[in-house]
Amino acid sequence: MFSRIFRKAFGLILVAASAQQAMAQATPTAKPVSFIRDIAPLFKENCFGCHGSKNPKGKFDMTKVESLRKGGTKEDPIVNGKPDESHLIDVLKATDVSRMPPKETGAPLSAGKIALVEQWIAEGAKVDQGLDVKTDLLKELRKLWSPPAILGKYAFPVSVTALVFTPDGKQLVTSGHHELCVWDVATGTLVKRVSIRSRRAMALTYLPDGKLVMAGGRPGEEGDVSVYDLSAPPARQENNIPVLNGVSDPKVLVKRLLEADDEVECLSVSPDGKKLAAGGCDRLIQVWDISAGIPQAKLTDTIENHADWVFSVAFFPDNNRLGSASRDKTAKVWDLKAKESIATFPEHQNPVFGVIVKADGSACYSVGDDKQVRAWNLTGDQGAKQIRAMGGAAGSVLKVIQHGKEPWLFSAGADTKIRLNDREKGDQIREFAGHKDYVLSLALNPAGDLLASGGWDGEIRLWNPKDGKLTKAFNASPGLQVSAPVAKP
Ligand code: HEC
Repeated sequence: MFSRIFRKAFGLILVAASAQQAMAQATPTAKPVSFIRDIAPLFKENCFGCHGSKNPKGKFDMTKVESLRKGGTKEDPIVNGKPDESHLIDVLKATDVSRMPPKETGAPLSAGKIALVEQWIAEGAKVDQGLDVKTDLLKELRKLWSPPAILGKYAFPVSVTALVFTPDGKQLVTSGHHELCVWDVATGTLVKRVSIRSRRAMALTYLPDGKLVMAGGRPGEEGDVSVYDLSAPPARQENNIPVLNGVSDPKVLVKRLLEADDEVECLSVSPDGKKLAAGGCDRLIQVWDISAGIPQAKLTDTIENHADWVFSVAFFPDNNRLGSASRDKTAKVWDLKAKESIATFPEHQNPVFGVIVKADGSACYSVGDDKQVRAWNLTGDQGAKQIRAMGGAAGSVLKVIQHGKEPWLFSAGADTKIRLNDREKGDQIREFAGHKDYVLSLALNPAGDLLASGGWDGEIRLWNPKDGKLTKAFNASPGLQVSAPVAKP
């Protein structure tokens, strides 16, 4: 239930306010039609969902020109120069069950869009110069896409889907709309902005060398794992705040490690700093060897161990095993050396949003849609046994983090509260109340004496974890003008 909201709603916020690139003009034009600019986006929007490269309906894969022209189980649905003889146009115009997209998925294509496809076929159904017929059109469309400029002043609050303290603990980096925002912890003021390609960051973590890794993307469109150097010089100022160009300045964007077909949700750096793992909506976990530095990073493993989106990954202290949590209702443990799954923890029986591993490796803690924080350990032989469940939350628990010295677990989610439990005894030690909306992100500073939480409504709160006192609150949306209510579909 919640994971659907998790996906949909995050994407809605700010879409209205963003300077999204205009969709391909969907009416006949005086100019020749361009396949990649005019037709491919239309197919992507209306057809790729069923005619993608994985298990396409009617074995008809429309994501490459070559397979588009093969026509799946039928023959080439296009007759060059002759829209009236092209089966593709027949199915777009059909009024019976043969109509594409099928009736159950909604309205037919508009007359303007159909006329555009007809014009393209009438002009010979040509593909743009240089476009190979074997090229993945999704990749090609991503190349043509560029992120909108960052907003001078936000008209809507942006959800804080990820946040992290800088290694010196003095600043807090938060996810914005196509940007990262850097705040001074002592004053709660904005000190730096970094424009990025991703619409939102879903995970942020610092590497031992002081570079920042971000996982994110655009839901349903692309996934991104990139490494940034926030100490690089700014490209310009916006309302007197320095703005770094993390989109194309190689001093800021040190390396893009991954381009995926869907959003990346999570990251983990191994305790020895030599490995980086990421997981996302393509169900995959990727692991890089970063021991020779980020420029020399090498993808070593692509793990397909979950049947649905991967929301969380966490290294064990042995730098070899990797815990993961998924929408497929399980948490799992993977052995990198043996290259096999060594345990499955099914007790949540609901999507699992977060997993962490105790510093000595003797227990894992996972949270999910079942409103529980569950402690469990490995029993060998594929087994994972629950030690205890920690209830108390009135809604989905989305995040769990642990303290470096104290036996403390912090968890938070849909009921707006943050709970602190004793990891060993399970008791709730205290509750941090005050957020007015879902809490989506949590982080502790390196010293462990400041807790940051980020909300759906853009609210950042800084707390003293020892007594639960609020030390600061501010909204993470630069120059927010109107405090509009945030719609949750
Ligand atoms: C909701 C899923 C869905 C969407 C969206 C969809 N299709 Fe299909 N399409 C199908 C299925 C299912 C078949 C297979 C029918 C069969 O094998 O009998 C099919 C078959 C086809 C065929 C093969 C011809 C035929 O008569 O079987 C063509 C051509 C086609 N689709 C074009 C399109 C185009 C163009 C779009 C986008 C405008 C589109 N489809 C969107 C589900 C979909």
